[in-house]
Amino acid sequence: MTPQKNKTLGEFIIENQSEFRYSSGELSRLINSIRLAAKVVNHEVNKAGLVDILGTAGDTNVQGEDQQKLDVFANNAFIKTLTNREIVCGIASEEEDDFITIKGRSGNNDNKYVVLIDPLDGSSNIDVNVSVGTIFSIYRRITHEGTPVTLEDFLQPGNKQVAAGYIIYGTSTMIVYTTGHGVNGFTLNPAIGTYYLSHPNMQFPVDGNIYSVNEGNYVHFPQGVKDYIKYCQKEEDDRPYTSRYIGSLVSDFHRNMIKGGIYIYPNTAKDPNGKLRLLYECNPMAFIAEQAGGKASNGFERIMDIQPTELHQRTPFFCGSKNMVEKVENFMQLT
Ligand code: AHG
Ligand code: MN
Ligand code: MN
Ligand code: MN
Repeated sequence: MTPQKNKTLGEFIIENQSEFRYSSGELSRLINSIRLAAKVVNHEVNKAGLVDILGTAGDTNVQGEDQQKLDVFANNAFIKTLTNREIVCGIASEEEDDFITIKGRSGNNDNKYVVLIDPLDGSSNIDVNVSVGTIFSIYRRITHEGTPVTLEDFLQPGNKQVAAGYIIYGTSTMIVYTTGHGVNGFTLNPAIGTYYLSHPNMQFPVDGNIYSVNEGNYVHFPQGVKDYIKYCQKEEDDRPYTSRYIGSLVSDFHRNMIKGGIYIYPNTAKDPNGKLRLLYECNPMAFIAEQAGGKASNGFERIMDIQPTELHQRTPFFCGSKNMVEKVENFMQLT
């Protein structure tokens, strides 16, 4: 059943608590903490244009505090919120070299979940007032509760995710997430600080006509991607397709999920594993895509079936409308 619109995120979380695979209020509290940190980051992102007035990274502000780059600010905001609320036993972040172990006040490690996060995605777009985002991924730890987390708890394949989502700081601020029962999108009403269910049961159109890729790297692309781009540009049937590339994965993905399209960041001659990070970017987006009827692959295999071997591992990424991903996979496999 499609959830009713205009519900608040708080109401939605309570009503749908029973659908979590490992019921307990813990995962609900965790998602609640993320939405809270997202409001703090949203407030800071909205002020980014005032940087000349308020000071840039490296400056000292009027209170004598050091100004931070927004991705550092976002990283700290998420880590602090999740740590203070004693809600997870570990965090891994794009901005941290190693994972963080979290102990409760009593010094134990009783929480069940680990969070992996890209605190600010598309950070090169901040200076030019273009949408950025946050991506998060949640797993149940695999080592024993009560013991400190280990690397193993973070290096799980994407098919073990219990929840994943993103926040988009766009013309509106939205949070879009899944717990494995479809995808729902909530829009922030900034006047009262409440998120409302605005996009219930989001679906990736099976086909689309938008392709999103940094074509400046064309000469370095594998032949299969070059052939696919030529296919998109060919005058035939419903083609040529439209090219749209913001350079923020969250924003490019969000548009494509609503309108139908494909996002591609392939391996290149320079970067044989592509650029995007498997754990912080590709797995969570793949989970959302699949839950909305889309598809995500590295050109040859399902993203969520890749067994990670390191925290900051990269992978080529093809994600979006199912038919489009399958088409580019055909081109990749022919070459
Ligand atoms: P981040 O800002 O978290 O480091 O991620 C940037 C990523 C992704 O958001 C975006 O799609 C891609 O990098 C853009 O890369 P190019 O500038 O190489 O196209
Ligand atoms: Mn990113
Ligand atoms: Mn980032
Ligand atoms: Mn980065």
